[in-house]
Amino acid sequence: MESQIDWHSARALLEWQVELGATEAILDAPVDRFTLEAAPPKPAAAKAKFAQSAPRPIAQQDPVPIAKQMAEAASSLDALQAALASFEHCDLRRGARNLVFSDGNPKAQVMIVGEAPGRDEDQHGKPFVGRAGQLLDKMLAAIGLDRHAEAAENAAYITNVVPWRPPQNREPSPEEIAMLTPFLLRHVALIKPSVVVAMGNISCQALFGKRGITKLRGQLQSCRDTDVIPMFHPAYLLRNPSAKKLAWADLLMLKAKLSKT
Ligand code: URA
Repeated sequence: MESQIDWHSARALLEWQVELGATEAILDAPVDRFTLEAAPPKPAAAKAKFAQSAPRPIAQQDPVPIAKQMAEAASSLDALQAALASFEHCDLRRGARNLVFSDGNPKAQVMIVGEAPGRDEDQHGKPFVGRAGQLLDKMLAAIGLDRHAEAAENAAYITNVVPWRPPQNREPSPEEIAMLTPFLLRHVALIKPSVVVAMGNISCQALFGKRGITKLRGQLQSCRDTDVIPMFHPAYLLRNPSAKKLAWADLLMLKAKLSKT
């Protein structure tokens, strides 16, 4: 009988079981496999069946130059989004519901770069809409910024290094970061912000090639001639509220920087 459950619900159920600690796929009732009459499918037949249903493999090519070429050819935000949507080399896209491209005002002077979508962002197709996003909105509001403000000087534009949700919110791998960075750099070039805020280690890695947010924060960095302010990621601040005073100092640095532009 055909299963009634759709792919995404089945995946969510499986993730929930993994979170509960289930590590093996077993049945509700024990099965004595020594007494089973039917022989298991022959490996060759099983392999052929899998090959029919599995997504077609992408030829083994270095994805980074391909990403660079596709990103650089994009002359508008729509073209960049379309380029990402047709970039087949990152497997994360196969497990995600949505491509999470950006939110906010593209004319903003400040561009916020996060890590990767979580469950809420994957569902809504927009970055920073879950708990970390709510904290980010409060942080921005504290210095007079709002992602939906019409005036460029009060607005913010938000994106992530990785546009697809990694399974179980795992950290993106170095290979994934490397193949998605050309799209991020093109994104920054198209927005032309006065300041970029790098939220956490993954975005510091992608924007200026360094990690170690505890040491990096508080110091201005740069990405292809654009100033970058590294900051603790809002998800980190939710887990470590005592770091909020340092984040406040970084927000004041951002405000001071914006007032000079
Ligand atoms: N964390 C991120 O880095 N980005 C999001 O969009 C949501 C949570």
